[in-house]
Amino acid sequence: MEEALVGRDILPDLSAALARHGIDGRLFLIADARVAEQTGNAPARILTESGHTVHTYLVPSGEGSKSLRQAERIYHWLAEQRAERKELILAFGGGVVGDLAGFVAATYLRGMPLAHVPTTLVAQIDSSIGGKVAVDLPEGKNLVGAFYPALITCIDVRFLESLARRDLLAGWAEVIKTALLFDPPLFDEIAGRGPDDLTSDFLLSVVPRCVRWKQKVVAEDPKEQGIRALLNYGHTIGHALEAATGYERYLHGEAVAIGMHGAARIAQHLGLLGADAFARQQAVIAQYKLPVRYTNVDPAAIESAIALDKKNRHGKVRWILLEDVGKPRIESGVPQELVRKVIEELQAC
Ligand SMILES: NC(=O)c1ccc[n+]([C@@H]2O[C@H](COP(=O)([O-])OP(=O)(O)OC[C@H]3O[C@@H](n4cnc5c(N)ncnc54)[C@H](O)[C@@H]3O)[C@@H](O)[C@H]2O)c1
Ligand SMILES: [Zn+2]
Repeated sequence: MEEALVGRDILPDLSAALARHGIDGRLFLIADARVAEQTGNAPARILTESGHTVHTYLVPSGEGSKSLRQAERIYHWLAEQRAERKELILAFGGGVVGDLAGFVAATYLRGMPLAHVPTTLVAQIDSSIGGKVAVDLPEGKNLVGAFYPALITCIDVRFLESLARRDLLAGWAEVIKTALLFDPPLFDEIAGRGPDDLTSDFLLSVVPRCVRWKQKVVAEDPKEQGIRALLNYGHTIGHALEAATGYERYLHGEAVAIGMHGAARIAQHLGLLGADAFARQQAVIAQYKLPVRYTNVDPAAIESAIALDKKNRHGKVRWILLEDVGKPRIESGVPQELVRKVIEELQAC
């Protein structure tokens, strides 16, 4: 389990944390080029001041960088530098760079120590926690990867201030998901606020709570054989919608918001989820300016993408459904006709 440091302006604490884990000397920083430029490569500056020699590799911003080709370029770079097995890989950026650098750390020299400085909300509460690292193939996202937890994740909410609004809101979808699954008080707090509350202590309260929930679930089920699957609330339809639109139209969090709405409709049709909880979920998604419907996608394409979901077992889709806020369950017996009906209902007219 990674050690998570969470706060505002805490990046300088990373040096001491690395020292606690016996990391000294050289390290290899793999950074989102845009984030490095915007921040003057803050981690390199801080870690150089504390006596490290920092080598930086800049990765072009965007999902296209999460590829085997990009990983290979980094392997060659590490080989040229004669990187050694005890030296650290530090990922600096959003989920793309975290997953890519994590994949490189898991595989180069059969594993180098890894730390994350996540800079998007998605990366801070989700992708930098729990050890899933991966690259994409043309055939699908995250198809090649590993479970490879970082030593340290240094989560500085200050970075979120420069995030584009659309990326920020997409991150809120995962916050909403976490609250719906596990934390009714957090859900009430979120419902009472808006998404623009960055300067207050709100984020400083929300981010560590989401991090702790994810850590708790992952600690119980590191390789997703049981309870960790709950984190996929909204993701069955969400992933399918992303796949059906070539991963270009919707940000992941937007697709998950639509997917959560679909899951809630399924739960409602099955008589599991009451009208009040359904309405509260719908209201929060709208409040955070996230979509609940899609346009211009063939419902049949979404349905067939669901059949290819990585989490299916023996051809059965495992739906994560809610009985109430804070009461999730896994349901394998959702009738196909109901799934089809709900996917059709999710189309905006
Ligand atoms: N490993 C996991 O458990 C896990 C979980 C969720 C998502 N993911 C993966 O994460 C990726 C999505 O992550 P993401 O949403 O962070 O996307 P991203 O890494 O592409 O970042 C989104 C955009 O924000 C920019 N950016 C990053 N930090 C910024 C900052 N502080 N200020 C301004 N701009 C900034 C980036 O350059 C990029 O353009 C996907 O590939 C997804 O598969 C992995
Ligand atoms: Zn997600």
